[in-house]
Amino acid sequence: MKTVILLLIAISTILAADFSSAQYQAQQRDSKLNQLWQAVTQNKNSGSYPSTVELVSIFTESMDVSLNYLSDSLPEGRKKLIHSVGVVGKVKFVAEADTPYTGLFKGADSALIRFSLAKSPNYSKTQAKNAFDNFTPGLGLKFLADGVPSANLVAMWGVNGVDTFNFFDKDMNTHIPSASGLQLKLVAKKFSSATPIVQNVGLRSFADRNQDGSSISEPKFPFKLTFRAPADIKNRFTDDFTVQYSEVFAQIQPGTTVLEVFAMDDPSTGCLKKIGSLITTSEFTTSKFGDENLFFEHQNYVNDIELHQQWSEYTPYFSFFGSNEPKKTEGKCPFASLLGL
Ligand SMILES: *[C@@H]1O[C@H](CO)[C@@H](O)[C@H](O)[C@H]1NC(C)=O
Repeated sequence: MKTVILLLIAISTILAADFSSAQYQAQQRDSKLNQLWQAVTQNKNSGSYPSTVELVSIFTESMDVSLNYLSDSLPEGRKKLIHSVGVVGKVKFVAEADTPYTGLFKGADSALIRFSLAKSPNYSKTQAKNAFDNFTPGLGLKFLADGVPSANLVAMWGVNGVDTFNFFDKDMNTHIPSASGLQLKLVAKKFSSATPIVQNVGLRSFADRNQDGSSISEPKFPFKLTFRAPADIKNRFTDDFTVQYSEVFAQIQPGTTVLEVFAMDDPSTGCLKKIGSLITTSEFTTSKFGDENLFFEHQNYVNDIELHQQWSEYTPYFSFFGSNEPKKTEGKCPFASLLGL
C-alpha cells in the first residue's frame, strides 16, 4: 500500500513536471535526479526554436524568473526563448584533492548537464568561418543536494558564438564578453531589469551547501569558472559542419570525462587552476522536457560580490549606451602559456 502511494506521488510529480514544490525540494538528491532523468528520457524528441514573434516576447517576460526562481523546471507556460534545443546527460563532479573551495566544489555525485545552442543555427553555410554569429554553443549545469534546492550555472564562450562548428573549440566561461549587435544588446538590457550584471553568473550557491544538504557558514568560491573539453572529446567534432552536434554527443559513453573545470581565484592574477572534472554517468539524449521545462537558474553575481567587494572592479555593469568594460582588466597569468591555459 505504502509503495503504491509513493509510486502515485512519484507519477503525479512527473506528470505535473513541477520541480519547484517544497515537497520535491525536501527529497534526497538521488530521488530528485531520478525523477528529473525520468522526465528527460520520457520523450527524446527535441523541442523547437522559438518563432520571431515568440522571441520578441522575451521583452515582456519577467527576468526575475531566470535569476530568482528556485526550481528545477520552468514555471508553467514559460517557454525557453534562448537555448531552446539541446542534449542532456547525467554527470558527477570529481574535485581535485587540493581544492580550496567549499560545499559542492568538493564533489557532487548527482548532477545534470545540458549542452545547447543559444539560437537556431543555419547549417546550410557549412564552412567554419560561417559559424560566427550562427553557431552559439553553451552549457547549463545543475548540482542536486538533499533537502535543499539545486545549485545552477550557465556558461558560454560568448553570445555571438565562435568561428567553428566544433562545439568545444573554445572554453566556456561563467563570465562572457559583452554582446555585439543591437538585438543581443536589447536582450542584455532586458536581463538588466533583474540584475545590473548581465555578463556573469554567480557561484556562491555551489559553495554554501554540501550535497548532503548541510550548509556552510563561510563559503569559499572562485571569481569565475572555465570549462574545457579534453582533447579526445574536442577531436570528435569538426570545424566545418558535418553532423548535428547531438549525434556526436550521443556517442559519448557513461564514464567519460566530458569537461575539465578550471577556476580563476583572483582576477588580478588572471591565473586558472584545474579544480576538477565532470564525468558522465549516463548517455546524452535529446529531450522534450530538457528543451521545454528543465530550468537552470542564473545566479545573480551581486551575491558573489557581496562576499568579495574587490571583484566589483573587475565586473562589467550593464550600460546600454555607455561602456560595459570593467574598471580593471583581468591579469595576464605569467605561466598561462606554459600550462597550456
Ligand atoms: C541560411 O543560409 C543560406 C545561405 O547563406 C541562406 O540562403 C538562407 O536564407 C539562410 N536561412 C535562414 C533561415 O536564414
